[in-house]
Amino acid sequence: MSDTFEAKRPPTGVGDGVDLIAWCRRMREHHPVWLDDETQGAHVFRFDDIQTVLSTPEVFGSDFGELTPDFGEDVPNFMEGVLTMTDPPMHGKLRKLVSQGFTPRSIARLEPRVAELADELFESVAGQDRFDFVSSITYPLPVIVIAEMLGIPASDRDLFRQWGEALLASNYELPVGAIPEGDISSDIVDQMKEMRDYLLSHVEDRRNNDRGDLISRLVAVEVEGERLKDTEVVGFLNFLLLAGHLTTTLLMGNALLSFADAPDALARVRGDRSLVPAAVEETLRHRPPVIFQYRLAKQDTEIGGVHVPAGRPVVTWLLAGNRDPEKFASPDRFDLDRATTGHLTFGHGIHFCLGTPLARMESRLVMERLLDRYSDWSLGDPVYYERSPDIFGVKSLPLDVTPA
Ligand code: HEM
Repeated sequence: MSDTFEAKRPPTGVGDGVDLIAWCRRMREHHPVWLDDETQGAHVFRFDDIQTVLSTPEVFGSDFGELTPDFGEDVPNFMEGVLTMTDPPMHGKLRKLVSQGFTPRSIARLEPRVAELADELFESVAGQDRFDFVSSITYPLPVIVIAEMLGIPASDRDLFRQWGEALLASNYELPVGAIPEGDISSDIVDQMKEMRDYLLSHVEDRRNNDRGDLISRLVAVEVEGERLKDTEVVGFLNFLLLAGHLTTTLLMGNALLSFADAPDALARVRGDRSLVPAAVEETLRHRPPVIFQYRLAKQDTEIGGVHVPAGRPVVTWLLAGNRDPEKFASPDRFDLDRATTGHLTFGHGIHFCLGTPLARMESRLVMERLLDRYSDWSLGDPVYYERSPDIFGVKSLPLDVTPA
């Protein structure tokens, strides 16, 4: 290991991840906790340090309200009611309310419907020897599922995609770890307003009509005698709509990228379908759809022996932690036999992802169908990657397929 690697910002653009993974490795080896003087961000790369940050919410908070620029009342900030941006004690109350809809049992109940939807999507490309895996299968499936859970028309999914892209686009240019400031483009604001008005109309409808869906439950529920405000329900719905589909879409595409790197693993899964869950889990570790998570140092503190002053954004690099050799041996290898337990892809601690069973189930059902229907596939050209700096995965993945 060379002892000269100057700390620097991540390469621009995640793309296929090769440069970013190399950067994560060198930073973890040489600057496991790096304070970027210019942006003030504190970057954390080691598995153990990341776990410590994520499991200490009293020191490393998630409420970024004070750091978020106020663009005026007319620009929705979608931050109220968002679990991932809420600290205790409010976080615990909100989480208790919404977690009922996400217990392993309530998710398991959805399985027949998810399987039916996956069958329909694969049927829609039957007979084609080439199709885009993302637009045909992995984008529509999770978005239809989350829309049905919430009780909003899945036929509006092109709108959700458009809004999601606008929200992601607002952070393309910002260096990772920097505190947002300045202006926001009027196009993005228009998209955000459209999304807010759309969600608000559903919330208002449920205030008058109990439709037996998740939105109806959220408007009716009381937190210590108080109902959630419309802005809180809208913020949470916005988060769920985005968190509930983009990440899972990316996971399924990433599985195919990992298989392309590890054809032996694919051959084993072909021969033994009981390995599908292990393949999904190893994909999660190997290519996490969410690359990093932010926290905010609430007080002067220390991470891995480095002093971090109060008020600093802390960037926990989940991708770097998942490839820390202290935790996972030969971490760059896609290995179906490894114990993946504890990977950081779904976070850690009080904010641990609520959608974990759903994401795993959707991915398993899709992988099983892909293997059943096609005896072989190869990745076509061109593959397009997502552009946001915190997102790892493909936006478009053409597959050339050989039917089974
Ligand atoms: C592969 C797919 C997914 C990945 C990689 C992922 C990743 C994450 C991560 C890293 C967090 C922690 C955030 C933090 O620490 O601040 C999180 C939280 C959360 N996720 Fe997921 N997620 C996925 C799928 C889903 C799905 C399908 C849903 C819902 C339908 C969902 C709902 C949530 C919720 C509600 C939280 C907030 C929990 C809290 O703050 O208490 N996620 N997710």
